[in-house]
Amino acid sequence: MPSTYEQIFENNKKWVANMITRDADFFEKLAKDQTPDYLYIGCSDSRVPANEIMGLEPGDVFVHRNVGNLVNNTDLNVLTVINFAVKHLNVKHIIVCGHYNCGGVKAAMIPKDMGLLNPWLRNIRDVYRMHSQELDAITDEQKRYSRLVELNVIEQATNVIKTATVQKGYQKNGCPIVHGWVFDLHSGILIDLNINFKAILESIQKIYNLTGIDSEHNEDGEEL
Ligand code: CO
Repeated sequence: MPSTYEQIFENNKKWVANMITRDADFFEKLAKDQTPDYLYIGCSDSRVPANEIMGLEPGDVFVHRNVGNLVNNTDLNVLTVINFAVKHLNVKHIIVCGHYNCGGVKAAMIPKDMGLLNPWLRNIRDVYRMHSQELDAITDEQKRYSRLVELNVIEQATNVIKTATVQKGYQKNGCPIVHGWVFDLHSGILIDLNINFKAILESIQKIYNLTGIDSEHNEDGEEL
């Protein structure tokens, strides 16, 4: 719904009034602390607002969004979010949520120079390359596009599982569990791709097992 710049502050006042009507102490409680159970990593796309699609209130979900919901191992931003969410907020679940009709995924499917976007889209192009056999076998372009959205979610969720933070958290506390979802813009429905967190963890640990690094090499507790 388009609104003018000034309207946003009017909207905000109405929202505040509405929240106080529901619970007079709402903002007092909100200011005290946050104890979200979920970390949501999703696309920046304006049509996929984390709290709304999950039906959650302020304070319920810790959110990180970027173009194409990527978890890149040199992106200090997303790694910091994961680290903070796991070590300090003790989130129980980490969700990587993609969406069909994702512009980032679409752009990555077009083999041309996108300027500044190139290095970012490379992550999605790498997902295509890893799964090119499956993807190239899909003749319908829209279906191939949708499948790449799903595979990108699975690969980014796997990237979350590759982090020392998540592996150590899970070893110590049995959480977080990592999930992969896709949001369908046409229906508003969230689809759980039902990735098998334990199986992925076990399958990658031959190469990516980082659970022992802390005591040996990284005394100050930094972990990526
Ligand atoms: Co998108």
